Amino acid sequence: MTLAELIRRIPKAELHLHIEGTLEPELMMALARRNHITLPYADINEIRSAYEFSNLQSFLDIYYAGARVLQTERDFYDLTYAYLERAAQDNVRHVEIFFDPQTHTERNVSFRKVIDGICSALHKGEDDLGISSRLIMCFLRHLSAADALATLEEALPFKDRITAVGLDSSEVGHPPSKFAAVFDRARSQGLLTVAHAGEEGPPAYIVEALDLLKVRRIDHGVRCLEDPALLARLVKEQVPLTVCPLSNVKLRVFKTLAQHNLKRLLDAGLCVTVNSDDPAYFGGYVGENYLRCQETLGLDADDIHALARNSFQASFLDDADKARHIRELDALVSEMTNRRSGPA
Ligand code: ADE
Ligand code: ZN
Repeated sequence: MTLAELIRRIPKAELHLHIEGTLEPELMMALARRNHITLPYADINEIRSAYEFSNLQSFLDIYYAGARVLQTERDFYDLTYAYLERAAQDNVRHVEIFFDPQTHTERNVSFRKVIDGICSALHKGEDDLGISSRLIMCFLRHLSAADALATLEEALPFKDRITAVGLDSSEVGHPPSKFAAVFDRARSQGLLTVAHAGEEGPPAYIVEALDLLKVRRIDHGVRCLEDPALLARLVKEQVPLTVCPLSNVKLRVFKTLAQHNLKRLLDAGLCVTVNSDDPAYFGGYVGENYLRCQETLGLDADDIHALARNSFQASFLDDADKARHIRELDALVSEMTNRRSGPA
């Protein structure tokens, strides 16, 4: 058994995935054609070569421009189903998908079209690919709290299809505290909460997300190592971090993957998970994130096992489903690692 084989075969959950970030250049071109939209790129190579980013904002500018090709319910269906097919190749069994309604409703694409398209694909993915899912609605933090609140009210008639709310987009200058009242309202309606924090922003934003937004997980959170008291709290409370290593390198949170702190986070006793964030833009789906980290950071079979186990443990599945996935994972790892240590 090689560790690459182990990574490919273990069941895993993906908990940090923006559906708009799975828009591959080929689909972007096809949807532009279908919807009669002119893109500022002549071909797929030009699109790919535009994907050089200096920070989060330089990515977001290109990402929001790309999302303009998404217009109809069918577009959201095609986008989501293409992601699920790709995730199945990495043996992803459960996904918790972010979507950004404001990116679409501000272009007069209705909330209903967005959520209907995504949810029909998620249902087909469950039936045909065996991938279960949850949906997380994110607010764009560069927009106002009033805009987020209006979006929440628009979403409430669909709340049986939404498990949690989250917070994404430009982090620095838009602290979690800006959205405390919106998240209070979301929780009062039975929604769970998560937030991007400590990606580019300071550890204090992670503290605010915990104390003011009452989040169940921190998305990214890699800057927590700068604050020993926060680190101790995250370990004690086992607050999961949804880390996205290839994203962090593409957006220059770390200069190289070798400098990424994933292994240090794991060794500190945190509940760390590995995820792809916006794989069409960052050059790797979740399996590739595991693999590149294994090779570059020297992860061993125990580390990989822990990451996959954490992915189920940190999910919003119920306890029985978590236990079922973890039993299957444990059995596979022990079968594969025993074979490795046994006679040739
Ligand atoms: N939206 C999509 N990807 C994001 C990221 N990595 N950080 C913040 N907002 C995002
Ligand atoms: Zn993200």
